[in-house]
Amino acid sequence: MIDTEKYILGIETSCDDTAAAVVDVNGRVLSSVIASQSDIHVKYGGVFPDLASRAHTLAIVPTIREAVSQAGVDRDHLAAIGVTRGPGLIGSLLVGLNAAAGLGMAWDIPVIGINHLRGHLRSADLEERRITFPAIVLLVSGGHTFLALCESDSDISLIGSTRDDSVGEAYDKVARMLGLGYPGGPVIDKLAREGTPCIKFPRPLLGKNLDFSFSGLKTAVARYISSSDRLIKSDVASSFVAACLDVLVSKCRQAILTHPAASLVVVGGVAASLQLRSALSELCDELNIELCLPPVRWSTDNAAMISLATWDYIKSEKHPELQPQVRLPISEF
Ligand code: KG4
Ligand code: ZN
Repeated sequence: MIDTEKYILGIETSCDDTAAAVVDVNGRVLSSVIASQSDIHVKYGGVFPDLASRAHTLAIVPTIREAVSQAGVDRDHLAAIGVTRGPGLIGSLLVGLNAAAGLGMAWDIPVIGINHLRGHLRSADLEERRITFPAIVLLVSGGHTFLALCESDSDISLIGSTRDDSVGEAYDKVARMLGLGYPGGPVIDKLAREGTPCIKFPRPLLGKNLDFSFSGLKTAVARYISSSDRLIKSDVASSFVAACLDVLVSKCRQAILTHPAASLVVVGGVAASLQLRSALSELCDELNIELCLPPVRWSTDNAAMISLATWDYIKSEKHPELQPQVRLPISEF
């Protein structure tokens, strides 16, 4: 018997953000606290796994304490704790899983291991129900890039995925090559709007199937940068973003035309890109399909999305073991 009057405490530590949140059964967010580690990783131009685990260990207790206190709840108000069990960095996942297991034992409430990718999918329904099924989901993050077909919250099948790098990784690597810091996505997205897309970079796998590939594009940008004597960073950013958007929009078009759906859902950190948002909005207007975009604050990693996904697990009685999984496809719970 599910007590829908209660709340879920969500915990997320799969990569470089320590996050905790309290959410009700309708996706109302009572609190969402994120301790970012960008300051630590900025000098490496990417996430340094060992430092990420250490920083999670320091931040996990204060972050959970703050989320519970901001929400004004105590253990009696919680139906369960949901914690990311994968995919992610092993050392980072273990910190969240151990904290959740300890807290569950102390408070005598169930702890459920959650698939981070299902969390991203549910980010689209935080605060209000936005997804209409069947839906085509484009997930674009630092760790993943794929297209999935969702018949319901729990019936999800992959229809295309990246053969090498994720698009977020390509944004971060290009930012690093241009000396723009980490995470690179927001900086590249902004700089691109100041330049012109005058450099012809490749559009890998364009017009082929629904799979993606971004490593060749990344290499082409690296080659251009090392051979150019008058580098205009904004033009490089603009041309790189134009290539990424061409690929993402064209694959979404192809997916919509081959898998009739009621909505296109776009989630994950790169969904924070204003340029991607407007390009997909044009596409959906043209093809007459609903576009579901969570607000930018829910696109990047957070624990509210993990809390909301936990309700799906409870409803469908899925309680995977609290085993960390470095790799975990979205089709699995
Ligand atoms: O979903 P997320 O927070 O973490 C993962 O699960 O990977 O995604 C992080 C990725 C990073 O690669 C970051 O550079 C990118 O999302 N990102 C953006 C923007 N904000 C974050 N990419 C493009 N434009 C943005 N505004
Ligand atoms: Zn993520």
